[in-house]
Amino acid sequence: MVDATIGQGGHSYLFGRALGPQGVVIGFDVDEKAMEKAEERLKTLKCRVILVHSNFSQIADELNNQGIKGADFILADLGVSSPQLGASEFGLSFLEDMPLDMRIDKRIQRSAADIIKYLDEKSLADLIYQYGEDRASRRIARFIVQSRKDFPITTTGRLANVVCRALGNRGKGRSRIHPATRTFQALRIAVNDELENLKALLDSAPEVLKRGGRIAVISFHSLEDRLVKYNFRKNKEENVYEIITKKPLIPTRQEISENRRCRSAKLRIARKISEGD
Ligand SMILES: C[S@@+](CC[C@H](N)C(=O)[O-])C[C@H]1O[C@@H](n2cnc3c(N)ncnc32)[C@H](O)[C@@H]1O
Repeated sequence: MVDATIGQGGHSYLFGRALGPQGVVIGFDVDEKAMEKAEERLKTLKCRVILVHSNFSQIADELNNQGIKGADFILADLGVSSPQLGASEFGLSFLEDMPLDMRIDKRIQRSAADIIKYLDEKSLADLIYQYGEDRASRRIARFIVQSRKDFPITTTGRLANVVCRALGNRGKGRSRIHPATRTFQALRIAVNDELENLKALLDSAPEVLKRGGRIAVISFHSLEDRLVKYNFRKNKEENVYEIITKKPLIPTRQEISENRRCRSAKLRIARKISEGD
C-alpha cells in the first residue's frame, strides 16, 4: 500500500493494522517533521513500513529504487494537514499572523512572500484567478501592488488585511468563507506546484498499480477534483481503469460537525483493469 501523503500516519496506521505481517506500507511526504511523527505512530505495526522523504510526483522512480513492483493500493489525501495549518513555520494561516511562507517542502526556493514581493500586477491577478478562482483577482492584485509600496507584505495577517480591504463589503456578502481564502489557496498551490505534482502522480499511477489495484484520491478544492475526475475518465476510456465511485464520496453532516475542515473533501476511487503498465 502506498500512502502518497503519509502526514502523521493516521491513514497508514489503519491500513497497516488491516494489512498484517505480510503487508508493506510505503509512505511519502515532503514534510520531514510530520514523517518523524508517522514513524513513531507506525512503530507498533506488524507490517513493514518504508518512509520516503520525497514528492509523490516521483512515485514511480522511488518505488523502483525500493525494488517494489506493483502496488495494490495508492492513497493520496491532498493538501496540508491541520498541524501544518496551525504551525507558524509554514506560514499558511490567515487566522493568525505568521511569516508568509507556505513552503511545505523546505527545499523549495520561492516562498509566498517572494511571490507577493516580486510578481507584477497582471501576473498576480492571473495567479489569483487561475489557482484561487477569485473573480475579484484584478482588484486584489491592484491592492497588493499599491500596498507593497508602503509596507512589505511579509506576514499572513498583513496579506489577509490587504485582501479584506480590496474586497471591502463585497468580501462579506459573497460567501461564507473568509475573504482571503481564495488568495491564500492560489498562493499555496503556486508555491508548492500542487497541480503539477498531482498530475504527475495521476499519470504515474497506472504504471505503479498491479492489475486489480486501486487508487483513491481525497481532494479539497475543485481544481484538484477536476484533475482527478478527468484523469480517471480518460483512463476508463482507454480501458485502463474501472471507476468505482461514479460520484465522489463526500463527508456526512455528522463528520462535518466533528471535523469542519473535511467539509470540502471529495473521495474518488478507480481500479486498474488492464494488464501491465
Ligand atoms: C492532508 S495531509 C495527510 C494526512 C494523513 N492522511 C494522515 O492521516 O495523517 C497531506 C500531507 O501531504 C503532504 N504533501 C502535500 N503535497 C505533497 C507532495 N506533492 N508529495 C508528498 N507529500 C505531500 C503534506 O506535507 C501533508 O503532510
